[in-house]
Amino acid sequence: MTSNHSPAVDWQHWLERWDNQQTGYIPHREERFQAMFDVLEILLPENFVALDLACGPGAISKRLLERFPHARCVAIDLDPVLLAIGQGTLGHMNSRLRWVEADLTQDDWVEKLGESQFDAVLSTTALHWLPGGALLQVYRRLGELVRSGGVFLNGDSMPFPSHLAACSQLAKTLQTRQEKEAFETRGKENWQEWWQAIEQEPELNDLLTERQRRFGERHTDFEPILNVHEAGLHNAGFREVSTIWQRLDERVLLAVR
Ligand SMILES: C[S@@+](CC[C@H](N)C(=O)[O-])C[C@H]1O[C@@H](n2cnc3c(N)ncnc32)[C@H](O)[C@@H]1O
Repeated sequence: MTSNHSPAVDWQHWLERWDNQQTGYIPHREERFQAMFDVLEILLPENFVALDLACGPGAISKRLLERFPHARCVAIDLDPVLLAIGQGTLGHMNSRLRWVEADLTQDDWVEKLGESQFDAVLSTTALHWLPGGALLQVYRRLGELVRSGGVFLNGDSMPFPSHLAACSQLAKTLQTRQEKEAFETRGKENWQEWWQAIEQEPELNDLLTERQRRFGERHTDFEPILNVHEAGLHNAGFREVSTIWQRLDERVLLAVR
């Protein structure tokens, strides 16, 4: 992928602001990353190859490559602005990180990866953007991409099924309370404010226009319930599927191929 990063933009500043706004929604975000990485440490050899699926500015890739010095990572996303922030701050991390620009709802994303097998695929706060059919299609492709004995880890909000009404009410109420406390009481920057702020960067006009063309009014909040993820992964050929970390409906789902 060609690099878009202009030296006139303070990419590090935008990455720090990104991480900060994300923690307003997910206060245990760092703990969640490390819970995912503990799985890699225990189940994989130290020179594994990982895919950071819907990577944004590369939150997983950065932390993973820092924790595992012998690993390599491919990071894929559709958003040209977030990819530029990732490239501008992380670069290629001594040839251990490769960036790919592709749409997970289109069939060609797997070809664009440039490799056909991964030891691990990880994703955070992203797959709830995919409509149900597209999510299940992505899971089918992961069944082919993850080698036997490899793992898929998804850290995201996966709501309780409707028969667990009390759990569902608890999760929604506490999440609303937590976001109110972060964004209203403590005045943290939220998602909309972050995007409004970066739209003021004149150097990013072209990338922001391209982002708008790609995402437009696309609906981005489908949040399939936990059972949809579990069934989709079993059907894709993953043999063990289980929640391994959880804060109400914020979970890490592990699937072993
Ligand atoms: C909230 S961000 C999370 C980014 C990163 N994983 C993190 O935890 O900071 C959601 C990401 O999903 C990506 N995404 C959404 N739909 C996509 C699609 N169809 N193809 C590729 N990436 C997509 C967005 O561009 C965005 O970078």
